[in-house]
Formats: sequence, C-alpha cells, structure tokens
Amino acid sequence: MIILGIETSCDDTSIALVKDGKEILSNLVSSQINIHKEFGGVVPELASRRHAEVIHIILKKALNEAAITLEDVDAIAVTYGPGLEGALLVGISVAKTLSLLLKKPLIGVNHIHGHIYAHFLLDKKPSFPFLALVASGGHTQMVKVFEHLNFECLGQTRDDAAGEAFDKVARVMGLSYPGGPIIEEEALHGDAKRYRLPIAMKHDGLEFSFSGLKTAVLQKLKSEPDYNRADMCASFQKTVIDTLWLKCKKACDTHSLSNVLLCGGVSANQALQAHFTKLGKEENLSVSTLPIKLCTDNAAMIAVAGFYYHQHNKQTPSPLYVKSSLAL
Ligand code: KG4
Ligand code: ZN
Repeated sequence: MIILGIETSCDDTSIALVKDGKEILSNLVSSQINIHKEFGGVVPELASRRHAEVIHIILKKALNEAAITLEDVDAIAVTYGPGLEGALLVGISVAKTLSLLLKKPLIGVNHIHGHIYAHFLLDKKPSFPFLALVASGGHTQMVKVFEHLNFECLGQTRDDAAGEAFDKVARVMGLSYPGGPIIEEEALHGDAKRYRLPIAMKHDGLEFSFSGLKTAVLQKLKSEPDYNRADMCASFQKTVIDTLWLKCKKACDTHSLSNVLLCGGVSANQALQAHFTKLGKEENLSVSTLPIKLCTDNAAMIAVAGFYYHQHNKQTPSPLYVKSSLAL
C-alpha cells in the first residue's frame, strides 16, 4: 500500500510517498526559513502563500523521485491539525482534490501523532507501552502510548514550547531563526557550566515551563553585556536538556515505563540525543532517537501515521476541515 503524505502545518511544505508504512520512497521538504528569518519567526500569512506556491512542484518531484505516478497511490494522508490555520488549509485542499480525483481514501492525521509515528519508519519498531517526548517549536508533551493509537498526555508545557525557547533565546542573542540548530552549533564551543540557569517547576509533577528560562537568559544578558555567547548557548541548551531528562525520568518512574522515544524538531539536537542515550543506559531505560530529517516536520511521518490509522480503521472526520488546535 502506497500512501501519499502531505504536511503543511507550519513553515515546511512536505510531500512523501511511503510504502506499507515502512519504506520511504521519497520524502521532500521545502523549507521556508529564508522567508521567515528576517522576521525572527514564522509569519502565518507568508507561510500559507508559500505553501500554495510550491506544493504542486514538490508533489511532482516526490512522485518522480519515487518513480511512481499518482495512479499508484492507494491513499492520501494529510495533517489537519494542530498548526497554522491558513497553512493547514493548503495541504488539506490539495489532499481533498487528489482524493476526489483519484477516488482514493483521505486520511486526516494529527501532527503530533505524526511526530511519534516517525519511529515506526525505523527498522527497529517501538515496543508498547512507551513514553514519547514530543519537543518541537509548538509543543512539549510527554505522551504515554499504550498500543497503536492509544495515547495519554502525561504532562506538557504551561507556556513556551522547548523549540520556542530555543528560537526566542537565539533572537535575544542576535542569532538567526530557527534558533535550535544555531544554538546547538554555538554551544559546541561553549562552557555549559559558565551560567547558572533555573530548571522551572523542578519538583512540580510532570509539567514544563520554559518562559522563565528565556527571561533568566535575558536578565543575564542585561546584567553582563560582555557575556560570552558560546557559553550562554551551552548553558541554556544544557538547562533545556536537563529539564527534559528530569521530567521524562520522573514520568517513566511514575508510570512504570522503560522505553523512551524522542520526537519533534528539538530532538534533532545531538547533545540532547547523546545525553538521553547515556543516562538511559545508566538508568536502564531504552532510548530511541531519529535521524534529523525525521525529527523535524516532514510528510513521511504523516504518511506512516496515516498507514496505521488505516490499519486500525480510525475514522477521518467528514468533511475533513482544519483543526488548528487539535488535541492529542
Ligand atoms: O518539529 P518541528 O520541525 O516543527 C514544529 O512542529 O514545531 O520543530 C521546529 C523546532 C524549532 O523551534 C527549532 O528551533 C527546533 O525545532 N529545532 C531544534 C534543533 N533543530 C530544530 N532545537 C534544538 N536543537 C536542534 N538541533
Ligand atoms: Zn512538528
């Protein structure tokens, strides 16, 4: 079964073709970073316009790369939320049109499920139950996954998402957008012990808060104008990683879980992957990471989630419409 995946929830236009929920025939991502970086973040109106401009080109390229035609596609899976309303609308409109034209099923996929299901594209499939840490620009959630499509959110952020904190902290230090990869690069040359930054809600259950961390960085920058940028990046990154680890460990202990899956754009961070892998070994937790391309937004993760929705007869809302605040 070949599923065409479409992802346009934020600033990446992505189309993928995935066979039998495991073999990526193509997974193309057209990034809009160059459009948004001068504004220091995503401008929703520009994002939708750009999706509309490029989506048909990406579709054509993805089919070419997979060496198939539209007639070979068995179903169309599309992100319908959460995300930016206008941006989602572009993907959904294309998906609906293709579904009508080809007379093939339309599968509406939750973007967060997509991030989690990216792990089912790996040779070693996750074993249930597991804890998925979804850390991206819009979300920071710990999700217990009991079995296919059976999710429970154990804790999430009260304010900023982890990726949002990377982006905002980068901006106050005069670095470009998106902040995550740039801070990671700067941090390579920095001393993570140089600046002491707070872990918010350290002893407070399974919720996160990252807005205080951003404020703490800002205050240090004001009180020490000659601050060392690499040291600040390293200290900030270390604090985010320590926070994520602390909460995941607590969630595993509380809910008797021993498998942890790292998902979402922030999980592309190699220091984060290394820290979780190392501490996971010490604490007898199995930690699963993704290649960078499957951490950040991409349509292969939507196609594979769509495959399992189809396998488990999960109903797609009809008519399918954008749900920008779609819950887990
Ligand atoms: O999952 P994603 O591509 O889009 C959303 O669903 O939000 O995540 C994008 C976020 C951005 O905030 C970006 O700064 C962050 O992921 N990110 C990183 C890294 N690469 C991307 N954060 C830390 N380290 C990275 N290497
Ligand atoms: Zn995402």
